Amino acid sequence: MPAIEANRPQSAGVSSRSGIPGPALPPAALFSGDGAWCVVGAKRLLLRPLMAEDADDLGRLIDAATDEDRLLPCARGQVGSWIDEAERHRRSGEAHTFLLIRRKDPVVLGAANLRRDEDHAGHWQIGYWVAAPYRRQRYCTEAVEALVRFAFDELAAAALDASVPVLNTPSIRLLKRLRFRAVPGVGDAPDVGLWQRARRG
Ligand SMILES: CC(C)(COP(=O)(O)OP(=O)(O)OC[C@H]1O[C@@H](n2cnc3c(N)ncnc32)[C@H](O)[C@@H]1OP(=O)(O)O)[C@@H](O)C(=O)NCCC(=O)NCCS
Repeated sequence: MPAIEANRPQSAGVSSRSGIPGPALPPAALFSGDGAWCVVGAKRLLLRPLMAEDADDLGRLIDAATDEDRLLPCARGQVGSWIDEAERHRRSGEAHTFLLIRRKDPVVLGAANLRRDEDHAGHWQIGYWVAAPYRRQRYCTEAVEALVRFAFDELAAAALDASVPVLNTPSIRLLKRLRFRAVPGVGDAPDVGLWQRARRG
């Protein structure tokens, strides 16, 4: 179980541009006093909730995506409403969306989220996106690994589910590496498979 420490987003040592706490941050989940806002640490990354001031960084990444990149976290020009919605969901506990920030720069690489599955108690759906210039460096593997830990340790998730197009090789390789298992015959559509990692899986 990772350590949980009091840590407010606007506290001293948090950069105003990116909201990133200083370099001494341990690889753990840090919660605000009310238990809502948190930073999830990974080796090279920090994951924190989206904030209004992220709109420019995220907008630039999404606008730079090519037409082949169909699996964007939101449509071009919709970043502001996506951030607003993420904040609403964070407050209601319906979903937790995180910005992926490289610790050393700090550069925004992408986003990932956990969404409560209303139809299956204890299940959370996981989603992730890394902008093309930062792919194939195992950043997303690292981010999802941290989210898995967060989901099981802090959200008491029973299982994590990912719906993945059968041709999405990077996503499938990532999930296999992190011990997700294919659930036969349960995908959203014939060309989409369901991958799952149970709490003790
Ligand atoms: C899927 C995605 C998040 C992977 O991000 P990433 O940072 O490149 O992932 P990683 O570097 O951690 O690599 C994960 C695995 O995919 C493999 N991989 C990455 N890109 C690949 C490619 N183009 N072809 C084949 N394998 C690839 C990596 O080698 C790694 O596998 P390994 O650990 O067995 O070597 C990224 O491609 C993306 O954002 N795609 C668009 C959104 C998306 O598809 N989201 C998932 C929806 S289900």
